Amino acid sequence: MRTKVAIIGSGPSGLLLGQLLSRAGIDNVIVDRASRGHILERVRAGVLEEGTVGLMELCGAAARLHAEALPHDGFSLAFNGQNHRIDLHGLTGKRVIVYGQTELTRDLMEQRQQDGAQTVYEAEEVEPHGFDGEKPLVTYRRDGVTRRIDCDFIAGCDGFHGVSRKSVPEKSIATFERVYPFGWLGILAEVPPVGHELIYAQHERGFALCSMRSATRSRYYIQCPLDEKLETWPDDRFWNELRRRLPPRDAERLQTGPAFEKSIAPLRSFVAEPMRFGRLFLVGDAAHIVPPTGAKGLNLAASDVHYLFSGLREFYAENSTAGIDAYSAKALSRVWKAVRFSWSMTMLMHEFPEVGPFGRKMQEAELAYLVQSRAASTVLAENYVGLPL
Ligand code: FAD
Ligand code: DHB
Repeated sequence: MRTKVAIIGSGPSGLLLGQLLSRAGIDNVIVDRASRGHILERVRAGVLEEGTVGLMELCGAAARLHAEALPHDGFSLAFNGQNHRIDLHGLTGKRVIVYGQTELTRDLMEQRQQDGAQTVYEAEEVEPHGFDGEKPLVTYRRDGVTRRIDCDFIAGCDGFHGVSRKSVPEKSIATFERVYPFGWLGILAEVPPVGHELIYAQHERGFALCSMRSATRSRYYIQCPLDEKLETWPDDRFWNELRRRLPPRDAERLQTGPAFEKSIAPLRSFVAEPMRFGRLFLVGDAAHIVPPTGAKGLNLAASDVHYLFSGLREFYAENSTAGIDAYSAKALSRVWKAVRFSWSMTMLMHEFPEVGPFGRKMQEAELAYLVQSRAASTVLAENYVGLPL
């Protein structure tokens, strides 16, 4: 088959890009190795920047989001047994929107289906080819048959473990990485959240995060060792540990119940440079990973999509390569700032055994400064709501 843009990966990056292209009349096909059901089972991000919501609107897929999502004007930093509110709206005029990645993905998939755009799920051996020339193509196997998609461009939206980045010759790509010595154990439970806003808690037993998906569904995370096994975390142990890491007032209010999802995510910072190789573009987690502490991963994927879509639209509408030529530099400039922010939030909020008593004092001093100084709170808030595109 032939299309203009072949998109590898049907996560948020691939779906947002595909939807924007379709709406602009630019033909595209998405190929994913997973099934639709499997993709919708992955529980991940929960916090959207206003810019990400703006893209959902442009995709024509924001109706349910506007009806059901929870706008948040602030969040709390908890330490030394107390909560300190960061007034996002008061400090920046902006807010964030709490809406699960699963729901966003479902909305985009449904809109894509309604618009009649093509997605191939459960494609095996997906591979990009010829992107250093004029005629790139993507091959894959389905039902035992090898198929090909001839295209003008390939968008590698296939996440950190995907094939796109790995297809680039090593000498053409530079990578930067930091792996953190712990993970996040996360659960979803059908219980009302502990408060109306998110709580990021620093504690000597480790970091904890109170988030939510709705007024009746909570999402909680606790820092855990990297080699921890889920079987060793029955619900009771999780709730007890979470309670110990929260300020007493929140711990008392915490409502518990059976967890219907439980998973461990490792924490990593990673950037690949550049993000364009001839006619192949890397987008989202395929090019960069941030630890989840700043809630930036999905939002960065969305900003990459914004830059790439503008470039591709300009290419097809005006026959100009200026936009796609600028893609990598523009995207990376925003990516590095979010990498810095997510790294600094991670360093601030987690327990790092190796930092010792001095390191802990530095964390305490920084937290105290952050909540006492309007200038410092504003810096935090400005990054949290999302830097301008
Ligand atoms: P992915 O979602 O990874 O999608 C990639 C797709 O490519 C998948 O569907 C996969 O099946 C497919 N694929 C992979 N390999 C191949 C292949 N070889 N061939 C074909 N297809 C392939 N971000 C936020 O902004 N806010 C948050 O609050 C937040 N919280 C998070 C909490 C947790 C616990 C985690 C783990 C992440 C969180 N993130 C958050 C990050 C966010 O989930 C990711 O950044 C986001 O999913 C990236 O989207 P993507 O489409 O680039 O990649
Ligand atoms: C969620 C995840 C995050 O990484 C974060 O910083 C805030 C919220 C969540 O899943 O709700």
